[in-house]
Amino acid sequence: MRRIPDPALELLREQADVWVSPHERPLHEDELLDAARGADAALTLLHDRVDAAFFDAAGEQLRVVANVAVGYDNIDVEEAARRGVVITNTPGVLTDATADLAMALMLAVIRRVPEGDRLIRAGRKWDWDMFFMLGASLQGKTLGVVGLGKIGAATARRARGFGMEIAYTQRNRADAALEGELGGARYMELDELLAQSDVVTLHVPLTPQTRHLISAEKLALMRDTAYLVNTARGPVVDEAALAHALSEGQIAGAGLDVFENEPEVHPDLLELDNVVLLPHLGSATIETRTAMGELAARNVVSVLTGKPPITPVNLG
Ligand code: GLV
Repeated sequence: MRRIPDPALELLREQADVWVSPHERPLHEDELLDAARGADAALTLLHDRVDAAFFDAAGEQLRVVANVAVGYDNIDVEEAARRGVVITNTPGVLTDATADLAMALMLAVIRRVPEGDRLIRAGRKWDWDMFFMLGASLQGKTLGVVGLGKIGAATARRARGFGMEIAYTQRNRADAALEGELGGARYMELDELLAQSDVVTLHVPLTPQTRHLISAEKLALMRDTAYLVNTARGPVVDEAALAHALSEGQIAGAGLDVFENEPEVHPDLLELDNVVLLPHLGSATIETRTAMGELAARNVVSVLTGKPPITPVNLG
């Protein structure tokens, strides 16, 4: 596995012999397969591909793969089930950090924070002026939440603190208590939400159904004053279509923490001032990364000691 925070590593070392990658970079495919060989358990990060080749390399003694992420689109869960391997993820512990970052992106793009910072650093002349670098207010605006799960709801709660109204879309309507807590959040179809929202924030997992959910056609439904925030997974958005929509002024701006082919970023996005780009920092706080590592480690220890996993995606 790759290096994880020390408290989490200690939990594992108390139970097992642990191999930690010496590299501060993702493992290449052959390195990953080599690392898996003969392991009873593996801790994986979101760029580690866990598929049939991985399970073949590991061998039949492999009992659990603990992904140190809430998303697990890097793992072939059906293949794991066929082979009787338990898969776990890290829900809950990164909810607040990710919702904080969604708000940070929203504020950054709508109030032009990085753009202003760039202007000053570039030494450009500026004067306070009634019309200088105007953004928009969040107060009274509608936030459209695509996927009102834990992170979507946490983002919506924060947005309520900024005076926003909440609309949301997902497979099933949320319970009335949550809608009420969010000031009467309105449930609607995706197309209607895109047309009605001032800011759209994405909180769905990446699945075959959500890949390119936000396509050129969907972007065309958004208002030209609206913003898109993505802290979920890059491929949920057609990045080339988004770059086009932003450069054509079809939408006002975007805040992106994730990209279709990380760490690559569509070159056109780099040229645009109305987009804020972050290198997948959603859960990147010391507290959160420690909690993620510990939860993943406790999942491994549970399975290796014959107890049920704490946060399973499948039970093997
Ligand atoms: C991060 O992207 C995660 O899924 O935890």
